[in-house]
Order: sequence, then structure tokens, then C-alpha cells
Amino acid sequence: MPRKLLIRATVLAVAALGATYSIAQDNTFKIGLILPMTGQQASTGRQIEAAAKLYMAQNGDTVAGKKIQLIVKDDTSVPDVTKRLAQELVVNDKVNVLAGFGITPSALATAPIATQSKTPEVVMAAATSSITQASPYIVRTSFTLPQAAVSMADWAPKNGIKTVVTLVSDYGPGLDAEKYFKERFLFNGGQVPETLRVPLRGPDFAPFLQKVRDLKPDALFVFVPSGAGAAVMKQFLERGMDKAGIKLIGTGDVTDDDQLNDMGDGALGVVTSHHYSADHPSPLNTKFVDAFTKANKGLRPNFMAVGGYDGMRVIYEALRATKGQGGGDALLGAMKGQIFESPRGPIFIDAQTRDIVQNIYLRKVERKNGQLYNVEFAVIKDVKDPGKTK
Ligand code: PHB
Repeated sequence: MPRKLLIRATVLAVAALGATYSIAQDNTFKIGLILPMTGQQASTGRQIEAAAKLYMAQNGDTVAGKKIQLIVKDDTSVPDVTKRLAQELVVNDKVNVLAGFGITPSALATAPIATQSKTPEVVMAAATSSITQASPYIVRTSFTLPQAAVSMADWAPKNGIKTVVTLVSDYGPGLDAEKYFKERFLFNGGQVPETLRVPLRGPDFAPFLQKVRDLKPDALFVFVPSGAGAAVMKQFLERGMDKAGIKLIGTGDVTDDDQLNDMGDGALGVVTSHHYSADHPSPLNTKFVDAFTKANKGLRPNFMAVGGYDGMRVIYEALRATKGQGGGDALLGAMKGQIFESPRGPIFIDAQTRDIVQNIYLRKVERKNGQLYNVEFAVIKDVKDPGKTK
């Protein structure tokens, strides 16, 4: 080949390569999934990552002509790390959506980045009511503590529970659980002689439980984040609280499906209020639990998994609705108002609040086919976050 032609051919080839490269770039839709994969909240990360991958395996990784790329980052549930990772994902990786957020401080630390970069932040785990108010770009697919706590405060006094001591982790969701449980329970004629708060990191429940034993209420209402429930249950039983006539009640975080089966018969009869049980009797949930369990060596999905699974659905459908062409604002617009059936039951992303509206179930721990489950026995339909009406 004459030299001139060769150079021309090379230039063309490089240009063509460049073009394919830039098309490949444009054709990628990136989701930055920030989760606690190690540390105290690691089970949340494991559950949500598994659920997101299951959603992709079931629904394909191409939507509206875009190839979905999931970038998973471990924030070890340290909010400063979450913030740094979110910044890097937006600036360097140019992600289209930020998602995940195992604990409230991580979701809040990312809010300013979502706002400044106009990147939707899909909160799949964290559950303090105020989170959605921290940025207009936040959409939530998990739940709020007031949703669950108020439902329990309505159920308990109708079921012989007149005095309750509360025990919560001392940060956002715990303070929400305490406040909304107590206010509604007092309104319903109950009494709350004491409210106790334990540190989020490495809590020692023993001295608090001793105090509860001395106070001898009808029930102890507990909120601890997913992953910490088994420790509470163990110490509650070891101290013979149940034998002393004190019932354990709480939001469903304490009888988390990730840990419940290992809690033993002592957990039988514990009543909690929550938005998801692996035992939820619907064909869609049966399919979800089977597929999740198969794909993850027998791991049972918990409420974190369902938040991740539905969060992926919200992202996929927003991308589809905007035909793969929209930026952050268009995507956000297409996330608002989505309504669909989740493995937990019907859900709705309220366009005004960007928060989830969903059923809350009363459940009791029972043994079924040899395994412990939260068995639903009552439902409060379409619960909006009570924290938003104040
Ligand atoms: C939270 O930090 O918002 C959080 C974490 C775990 C839960 C609930 C709420 O189970």
C-alpha cells in the first residue's frame, strides 16, 4: 500500500474506533450502587447487591438501547466514605443514578451531591422519615420507621398491651421509631414509663434490658437496624424477660428474615409490624423468594433485598419511559408516580414526596415447614409516611 494511503487508512480506522468507543460510552447507563459490604451493616449490602443482580438477570441488562452497568462500592457504612464514593461515581464514572444507602447517615451525606449534580438518588435501605426532604433528587423504595411504628402503636393497645418501654438505636430511624410509636400509643391510651436509647455502634443491650426487667412493662418495643436483631433477641431470652411476662414487640427490623431462622424457638410469637416478610403470600413473592434463594446458596431475602429489587425496577422503568434519552431531571420525573406490584404487595412512589406508599403488615413469628417466618395476620393498606403530614 502506498504510504499516503496507509496513513489515510490508519486515520480512518482510528476515527472509526473512536466512534465506536464513544457510542459504547453513550450506550452505557451506569448505576452507582453504594452499600455497606463489610462491617456491622454488611448483611444489608449482601442482600441488596444480590437483589439488584437478580433483577438484572431476570430483566436483561439492556433497556431502551442502553447497556446497564452496575458499579458496586463498599462504604463500610461510614458516611464520609459514602460521600467520597458518591462524588467519585458522579465525577469520574459519570453515573446516571446513585443508589443503595444502607443507613440514614449515608443517604443524608450523599444528598448534596445528588442535588448539585442533578443525579437521582434511589434510597433502597435507609428509613428515617426526613431523608426524602434532604434533596429533591431522592426517591425511596425502602420504608419509613413512622409507617411501621404507628401501625404497631395502633395494634398493641387493642391486644392487651397497656404499658410499653421503648428501646431504640440512638440515631435517625431509632428516634423516629420512638417518637411515632410513643405519640400514637399515648394517644391510644397506653403508657410509656421509659424510653431507652442504645448506641448504633457495638451496643451492649444488657444494662438496658435489666432496666426494662425492673420496670416490668407489658411489652418492650424495639427498633435496631437490620443485622442487630439477633443480639437483642438472644439477650432478651437469656435474661428471661419473656418468662417475666414482658412481651417483645417492634418494627420488623428485629425479626429480620436474614437472621430469623437462626433465632430459635424463643422468637416464636413475637409480633412486629413491617412492609415485607419472605412469607408474604403472593405468587409474585413466591417466585421472588425462590429465585433469590436459588441464586444465593439458600439465602432468604429480607426487607432490604426487596428495597433493592424494587429500586432497580424504578430505575429500569424510568429509563424505559425516557427512551434512554433523558438526563437526571427526566429520569427523576419518570420515577415519580410509579405504581406497581412488588414482592411485598402493591407500592406507589408518591410524586409529591418521592417517598413510598405501601401496605404495613402485622406479623407473628411462627414455625412453618420447619423454618421460622414472620407470618402476616393483618394488613393496613396504602400507608403514607406519617412523618410527612407534620
Ligand atoms: C437506617 O439507618 O435508616 C436504617 C438501617 C437499617 C434498618 C432501618 C433503618 O433496618
